[in-house]
Amino acid sequence: MEYHDTSEVLITTDQIEQMVEDVAAQINADYMPYQELIVIGILTGAYIFTADLTRHLNMAVNVDFMQVSSYVGTESTGVLKIRKELTVDVAGKDVLVVEDIIDTGRTMALLKDLLYERGAKSVKLCAAFDKPDRRVNDLKADYVGLVIPDEFVVGYGLDLDGQYRNFRDVRIVR
Ligand code: IMP
Ligand code: MG
Repeated sequence: MEYHDTSEVLITTDQIEQMVEDVAAQINADYMPYQELIVIGILTGAYIFTADLTRHLNMAVNVDFMQVSSYVGTESTGVLKIRKELTVDVAGKDVLVVEDIIDTGRTMALLKDLLYERGAKSVKLCAAFDKPDRRVNDLKADYVGLVIPDEFVVGYGLDLDGQYRNFRDVRIVR
């Protein structure tokens, strides 16, 4: 296992807790109480945020997970690779995608298109963290926890080669 300097805390555990409550309040205001909402957590990074966020929502939440990534092939928009498929049918449903961090924006743009192709009634995007400086398209998440600078960060679900997801705060990798 490689050693990385992760001593610099960017976001504390308290700030994360406040962020989750703020995002949940915005989402609760936008949907009807007890309205059916399909929440799709994006594995693996969003597993913690999905668990924390959904426990603050007051809709009739149906949680599912999908594992996707994007790669840049011949098209600059990228290609979506599905590693784990959904189990629910999103046709006619209101969908909220929960992501750990938005970087280039390719993954979320492609996934949003796919969910609309599958007949979702509405698709909204929620990310715990956003690095807008890195964006290659015009993607904007509907709900963003915290905007962060262009640094590689780990913790609260975010990894470097599978490590550090279990940190309770978010740290910069040097
Ligand atoms: P993109 O927006 O399509 O470029 O991809 C976003 C994905 O890249 C996230 O779901 C993460 O898996 C990964 N990622 C981007 N920035 C970071 C970071 O700072 N730390 C850990 N993973 C990151
Ligand atoms: Mg990742």
